[in-house]
Amino acid sequence: MTRIAVFGTGYLGATHAACMAELGHEVIGVDVDASKLAKLEAGEVPFYEPGLEEVLKRNLAAGRLRFSSSYQEAADFAEVHFIGVGTPQKKGEFAADLTHVDAVVDSLAPLLTRPAVILGKSTVPVGTAARLAEKARSKAPAGDDIELGWNPEFLREGYAVQDTLHPDRLVLGREWSRTSRVEDVTREVYAQLLDEGIPFLVTDLATSELVKTSANAFLATKISFINAMAEVCEAAGADVSVLADAIGHDARIGRRFLNAGVGFGGGCLPKDIRAFMARAGELGADQALTFLREVDNINMRRRTRMVELVRDAIGGSLLGTRIAVLGAAFKPDSDDVRDSPALNIAGQIQLQGASVNVYDPRAIENSRKIFPTLEYATSVREACSGADAVLVLTEWDEFRNLHPSELDRVVRGRRMIDGRNCLSPVDWISAGWEYRGLGRPSFTPQRSSMGYGEGLASTTLRLGRR
Ligand code: UGA
Repeated sequence: MTRIAVFGTGYLGATHAACMAELGHEVIGVDVDASKLAKLEAGEVPFYEPGLEEVLKRNLAAGRLRFSSSYQEAADFAEVHFIGVGTPQKKGEFAADLTHVDAVVDSLAPLLTRPAVILGKSTVPVGTAARLAEKARSKAPAGDDIELGWNPEFLREGYAVQDTLHPDRLVLGREWSRTSRVEDVTREVYAQLLDEGIPFLVTDLATSELVKTSANAFLATKISFINAMAEVCEAAGADVSVLADAIGHDARIGRRFLNAGVGFGGGCLPKDIRAFMARAGELGADQALTFLREVDNINMRRRTRMVELVRDAIGGSLLGTRIAVLGAAFKPDSDDVRDSPALNIAGQIQLQGASVNVYDPRAIENSRKIFPTLEYATSVREACSGADAVLVLTEWDEFRNLHPSELDRVVRGRRMIDGRNCLSPVDWISAGWEYRGLGRPSFTPQRSSMGYGEGLASTTLRLGRR
């Protein structure tokens, strides 16, 4: 058992604190936001994350987990201090804003009077960890007895608990010039996971920081690659979903993260690729990452393309039309709307004169805060009532499983525009709907009767959750 403090109680920090307690450690979660702490202490997760509430409640009840705003309490209590605060994009710049990460070290270090280990988990530009290590040692009364390592986090929202307790790999960056204490302590903290055979890679600080940013850059590139293919498919009259299935069978390529659609959003991929470009520029390696600018461009173009697709489907102008938007979260199983393609598209369509009614199973409250002028519905049927077109922009199961007969008499125009290529065109076409997907030919009931539907059935019905 190790005594652990986790600084930051957002997606990363709250999950990490609860999961470290689940592994049997004694944990204190620290944040400056009193309202978040009050919720967490009461066993309530301040955001939607399947499975986290059970872990939180179980460990609060077992007395292994508590929350506090006191750095002093954390410094007195813990041997290991995890940094799990956010590193958002700086306003008006690509670079990462490290204010919160620096603030943790500035507040914590002067209170460290005993030997301690600091382990960073936040996504930071390469070079940050080495700088923070020096800063912590210079500010801490324990001085040279403070060691810092970087232990990047790869969790996905929606699978946060699973990804923390059963990660693909654990990575630790350490300072080779110092003792092995950081590594020893990290091995103790994750002993249970290491016993299960989860790969553990130990490296220097810079490499560990780069592992995280390059992993997200690769994922973003993979999504933009397939979305670029979608653009070509649109021009050539081909079908990107079938193309992704076909190339995905090559194990070197793989089918995961190859879903074309409205592209990536959220609090990580967009800002991480931008921060990565900014940092490479500072290091004089900007040429190496110029392709990420194109990755970003392709991604943002998908949003505009979706708006064009809707406009075309509806006859050339959105003015005075009613559009139903199903999905607001940046991805399913999340209530996170940060840089959500769905909300961005809903906003653009509204600006072109349509009345837009949005429904999402979890993200309405958060959406309202940033897009108060959109209309929000409490069900799919309500959102689709009188709609000239229905847009699926987040692939929640509730939408994937929709049957045309549920909406046939609710809508004004039977047009389904699938921004995530998550529906079966043949189901909608055979029910008399017009179906359009990004990177796919448009399918109207007439075309399907010429044989398109039959051809599609074999491919689209196999599209499971990926
Ligand atoms: C991402 C990474 O997947 C995690 O490994 C990483 O730890 C995390 O960022 C982070 O840096 O903290 P997350 O932002 O939760 O996780 O979401 P993803 O599942 O990666 O999805 C990102 C976006 O890509 C979503 O908008 C999703 O809809 C989109 N996407 C994903 C596609 O458009 N197509 C795909 O095939 C897959």
